Formats: sequence, structure tokens, C-alpha cells
Amino acid sequence: MRQDFKDKVVYQIYPRSFKDSSGNGIGDLKGIVSKLDYLQELGIDYIWMNPIFLSPQNDNGYDVADYRAIDPQYGTMEDLEELIEEAKKRNIYLMFDMVFNHTSTSHEWFQKALQGDPKYRNYYIFKEPKADGGMPNNWQSKFGGPAWKYVPELGRYYLHLFDESQADLNWENDEVIEELADVIRFWLDKGVRGFRFDVINEIAKSSFADDPNEFDGRQYYTDQPKNHDYLHHLHQLSFPKDDPYFITVGEMSSTTVGNCQKYTDPKNEELTMAFNFHHLKVDYKDKQKWTLMDFDFHELKELFFEWQEGMQEHDGWNALFWNCHDQPRSLSRFGDPAGYPKQSAKMLATAIHLMQGTPYIYQGEEIGMENAGFTDLGQYRDVESINAYHILKKQGKSDETIYAILREKSRDNARTPMQWDDSDNAGFTSGTPWIGTNPNYRQVNVEEALKDKDSVFYHYKKLIGLRKNHPAISRGRFIPILKEHDQVYGYIRQDEKETILVLNNFYGKDCSVDLGEIDELDRFGTLISNYPEQDLSHHMNLRPYESAAWILNEQ
Ligand code: GLC
Repeated sequence: MRQDFKDKVVYQIYPRSFKDSSGNGIGDLKGIVSKLDYLQELGIDYIWMNPIFLSPQNDNGYDVADYRAIDPQYGTMEDLEELIEEAKKRNIYLMFDMVFNHTSTSHEWFQKALQGDPKYRNYYIFKEPKADGGMPNNWQSKFGGPAWKYVPELGRYYLHLFDESQADLNWENDEVIEELADVIRFWLDKGVRGFRFDVINEIAKSSFADDPNEFDGRQYYTDQPKNHDYLHHLHQLSFPKDDPYFITVGEMSSTTVGNCQKYTDPKNEELTMAFNFHHLKVDYKDKQKWTLMDFDFHELKELFFEWQEGMQEHDGWNALFWNCHDQPRSLSRFGDPAGYPKQSAKMLATAIHLMQGTPYIYQGEEIGMENAGFTDLGQYRDVESINAYHILKKQGKSDETIYAILREKSRDNARTPMQWDDSDNAGFTSGTPWIGTNPNYRQVNVEEALKDKDSVFYHYKKLIGLRKNHPAISRGRFIPILKEHDQVYGYIRQDEKETILVLNNFYGKDCSVDLGEIDELDRFGTLISNYPEQDLSHHMNLRPYESAAWILNEQ
């Protein structure tokens, strides 16, 4: 099995918010082309772009109306072809975001289903009402409210695990898989080399029973055994066998290590790697997102250890990340942007990038972008956040409390415009941006970052370079250390030739570390650090958010 993707790094672009070339306030493909030199300077290998397909944009493009057409707000097919070509000149490949659990209700297939065409009705999950006329079951949509919507013309409900304009596809029907495979082949022909599959562990629904826990039904549609069969089938039909650049990643919701091992073990021919979100729930009180709580450091560490060790034991492969378009900014969440902006941003970067797996950088993370700081509902654009506001309001919470929660948890925190320079709107657009810009752009922006040799940007660049030059980082084993430490996340990466030790202090205060059990500490030299270098010693002190990696030098 080829191994060559293992030293690669992916950069995620949220096209709406990256760079607007037309002045309409929405980022576009030409804008991305204009910033390729910047991405080349950073050193990344793939660009994962959130969906740019034709869409009514009820969920910012995750409601796809035509998988083969570019939404005019992002540009044209020619613009896309130019992007693919220009990226390739810089050894960068495109990864597309395939939303295959559902389509928009404006998709031609759904429209035909509504017109009563039985072929297309069977592309979706239509169910008859219960005997009393009620919904087929008690499942809840992930964006709030019931997961079923009634269509009077058909006398049936259709399933939508997300917004009611996102109808779930019926993967039980082989014709659906064949259609989707055709879409993959279409984009492969255009030169796209990677695919991210949206909520792809929810495509198999094993039963439509009421959820007795009055929960949300997820036990019947998460990681069901058939999910593996469906992915294998799609793989057989459409994934190229010997393309050295081809990679896939699945977004896995509420998943398990066991299932992700299966999804990504090359023998099973499903996916290259998997995103899981457990480490991004360590600040959920009682497992609920719309709450406020400091993150639980021990839980975070245990999860990293469990996923690192679990995946390597069974030939699985992790996607490594702190940020994406669905998560608040990691610097605001796990770091200290006020007290230690650079140190804590670099610490978070090192902690993730030197683990086993493929690192993903979300636009702006590499310059230390922070949460949006919105103070009013009118500033939010995201359907999930706006629904959450109304749900929390119904529960009797005050505006003040709800705003405090949204400021920490809303997905819009990650969706503010990319901060290019200190000109108006951070250089993102000459028009009015579709969502407000974080006012800190006057200090935090790409132009500043490129001028300062000690910036967070150059730390990311260095980490990407280390992965390419050290097989212990790209391919070595992961060995946890300091498991019980209250402040430090530490590990060793090792292959036949190299040993690399990594320490990350997750707090803004000093701490002492006992490395008594590790031999030959005096033979280690620093690889990367966010402070002036210090040598390893058996009893050492780490400064606030100090983070460094050391490599064992050959004798
Ligand atoms: C995934 C996407 C998210 C979207 C949802 C529904 O979680 O990342 O942005 O809202 O799927 O498609």
C-alpha cells in the first residue's frame, strides 16, 4: 500500500470568507487563485474547499442543488479550472467537499421525487405517517426541531437529519451510490485529487424506530455496519487505484475508535483518514454544546492518547485538527489570546502537528485568528446558531447568557473574513462583507505575520517542514508520556532511526516536569520551540504555554 500522503498537510479554505475578488462581499474562486503564492509559502500540499456547488445556501453550501455545477457566487467552471491548474503549478492539489448524506430539496432528484416519480422518490427516505397521522418517529434534527417534514402531495414525510432543506439520501438504493460515484469521477477528470465526505458515518440508517431514550435517534444512524459496505462500494466504483495524490477523509460524527479503524484501514478500501470530534467536546457541560465550561485537560489528553494509540494499532489514520468551519477558534478556546497570543497559538500548533496523522490547518489559524466577539443576534449568519438562540430563549435564558454562549460556541466564530492586512475589511473585500470582520484585524493579519520572523505563521511553516523531513513525525509510532501530568501533554514519536520528544504546557503558568525515566536526555537537541531554546533535563521547568520538540542526535 502506498504511504506517500503521510508527510502531507491540508489547508482548509472556507471560500465565502477567504478572499473576495469581485467586491460583492463574498469570497470567490478568483480570490483563492490570487492567494496561492501565500499558501505555497506556508508549504501546504492540499486545499480542502468547503462546498462551492450550486446551492440555495441555506446551510452555506451544504445544501447542494447540483454536484456538477459551481455556484455563480463563487465564479465559473473556468475559474475552477484555473484554480486547479494554478495550484498544481505550485504542487498543491484540490480536495472537494462532498455532501453525500443529503441533497438540497432544490436538487433535481428531490424535485422529481416531489412530482411523484417513483425512481427519484426512492433516492430519498420517505415514510408514511404513523397510524395516528404523526411523524414516522421521534428523531430530532441536528439543527433543532423534528427530523421529518410532511409533503401533503405525497402523503409522506421525508427525513432530514439537518435543516429541512437538506433531505437525506437513501444509500440502500444502489442507484444512489452509482450516481454519487459518477459525481466523483466527474471531478477526478477535472483534476480534483482529494475528497472530504461530509457526515459520512450517518449514511446508513438501520432502523426507523422511535428512540426510547428520547434522545435524537443517532443510535440508529451512526456508524451502522452497512455504512462500511456503502463506503467500500463507492470506493470500488470511483476511487482511482494507483493515483499517488488521491486522498479521502470522512467527517465522522459521534464515532468510535473501532469504527474509524475500519473506515481507514487500507485493507478495507473505504477511506484514507477520518475526522472525529471527541477532543472538541471537552468543554461541553453534560455533553451539551450550548453551555459554558472550561476545557477538561485530562479528558483531552486521554482522548488524544486513546485515538493515537488505537488508530496506529490497527493501521488506521487520523486527521489532526483543532479548527474547522464548524468550530470556534482554538486560540480563544484552548489558548490565551490576551495574555500569551503567540506562545499559546504556537503551542497548540506543535501539539497537533507532531502527532501521528494528517494535520489540517483552517484558514487564519496560522496567523492566530480569534473568535468573532459578536454581541448581537443580527451579526450571526449561521442557521444552527440562530436556531440555538431561539431554543435557549424558549428555555428561559436571558439574552446576556445566550450571547455569552454564542460568543464561545457559534460556528460563525470561525467564519469571519480572513485577515489579510490592516486596510478596511481586513483586505478581504472592497464591498460589504457577508459577515462582520473581527476588529482585531488591525493587529492580527497576514501582512504583519509575514513581516515578523517570530510569528505564528513561521511556526506553522516550520512544523510543515519538519513533517516532510522527519519520517518519525510522518510515519513513526506514537508513544504517550507524562500521562498523569496536570498541565503537560507529552509524547514521543519514533521510527527505526529517529526519536522525537514533544512537550506542551497547556496553561499560562510555569510547571515542572520529571523526565526521570527517559535515557540520554543530554543527547537531545531542539527541533522547534516557542521560547528561546532550553535543553532537556530530568527535572525541568516549562514556562507559560511553553512547547517544544527535541530530537535524539545520533552518536
Ligand atoms: C457537516 C458540515 C457542516 C454542515 C453539516 C450538514 O457537519 O461540516 O458545516 O452544516 O455537515 O451538511
